[in-house]
Amino acid sequence: MLTYQALKEYLFRLDPETAHNLAEGAIRLSRLCTPAQNYFIDKNFVLDDRLSQVIFGKKFLNPVGLAAGFDKNATMIRQMAMFGFGFTEIGTVTPKPQDGNAKPRLFRFIEEESLQNAFGFNNQGMNIVKKRVERSYPFVLPVGVNIGKNKLTADKLAIGDYKTLIENLQEFADYIVINISSPNTKGLRSLQNEEFISELFAMAKELTTKPVLLKVAPDLEKKEALALCVKAVECGAKGIIATNTTIDYSLLQDAKNFGGISGKVLCDKSFEMFDYLAAELYGQTALISVGGIDNAEEAYRRIKAGASLIQVYTGFIYKGPSLAKQINEGLMELMNFDGFTHISEAIGCDRKPRR
Ligand SMILES: Cc1cc2nc3c(=O)[nH]c(=O)nc-3n(C[C@H](O)[C@H](O)[C@H](O)COP(=O)(O)O)c2cc1C
Repeated sequence: MLTYQALKEYLFRLDPETAHNLAEGAIRLSRLCTPAQNYFIDKNFVLDDRLSQVIFGKKFLNPVGLAAGFDKNATMIRQMAMFGFGFTEIGTVTPKPQDGNAKPRLFRFIEEESLQNAFGFNNQGMNIVKKRVERSYPFVLPVGVNIGKNKLTADKLAIGDYKTLIENLQEFADYIVINISSPNTKGLRSLQNEEFISELFAMAKELTTKPVLLKVAPDLEKKEALALCVKAVECGAKGIIATNTTIDYSLLQDAKNFGGISGKVLCDKSFEMFDYLAAELYGQTALISVGGIDNAEEAYRRIKAGASLIQVYTGFIYKGPSLAKQINEGLMELMNFDGFTHISEAIGCDRKPRR
């Protein structure tokens, strides 16, 4: 059997975006071969009651999800079970299709196990994505839908884009994520203000009973980020996802001066933001931690700090298709070691007095 190490050597010789598109094509094709799908599900999917939770009224068989941006157009929903993920998040989807920024716009930093991307919400748009999501229903695993405004929509009209997206995509979403934290759409991050967030979540409450979450940037002042998240929760947000990529270019020696950095070099920065937010918000809303996670120990650190779920993107590229399995198996060992019989006992245990 071809190992990921060997495959990676080949893929990493290609331009990163080409490699991604090739991988996407292969993953999509796997739907034509049920035995292969079943083989990978058997191989990678960790099924154990200790990891399973009901969140947002849905069963998450394990806490490790695929972060937004990998499956922007919802072409790989079913296939994510083959990689052992307990849930997946599609998007970011915008109302109209758009090409995104000029290429090249994805860069590898192999030694640092990190990526820098400046995609700018390239996606096929709400209508095509909606059809695909409908076709994937009923889902084999919970699916989040991550939404963002079109590049050409003026900031003062941005609320209209989010309205359209929620109206059109909510029916088949297990949860919806408001993305105003990507660094690759000019002006988007300026929507991370209390006024916009209040208006947005008040509107969302009128439009849907589905859980709507806010995804935040790691570069905000921590106090400001907390104030925004508290406001979002007061106005009806059902969860916080921390964090998106960073524009702290000092993290990589040869960083470009555009785009967002993800992966290992983001890990501690992302944890610090998550931990700061969780100190206040744990117990009040669902918390999802993402940023630089590529092993069970790091996933466990986030869970103990208050994350009910964690997500990976860059780690998946560097560690390969069995990453979710490795994390899930490692989590069970770590829980065992600490005497926990179910993940719910580990979630937030660093925030509450030990039993
Ligand atoms: C190539 C690439 C594209 C991304 N696209 C999106 C996106 O469309 N929407 C979004 O919310 N986050 C996007 N992200 C951010 C990830 O979802 C995640 O928050 C971030 O990469 C940190 O996690 P990681 O270190 O595990 O990659 C993208 C990340 C990468 C690397």
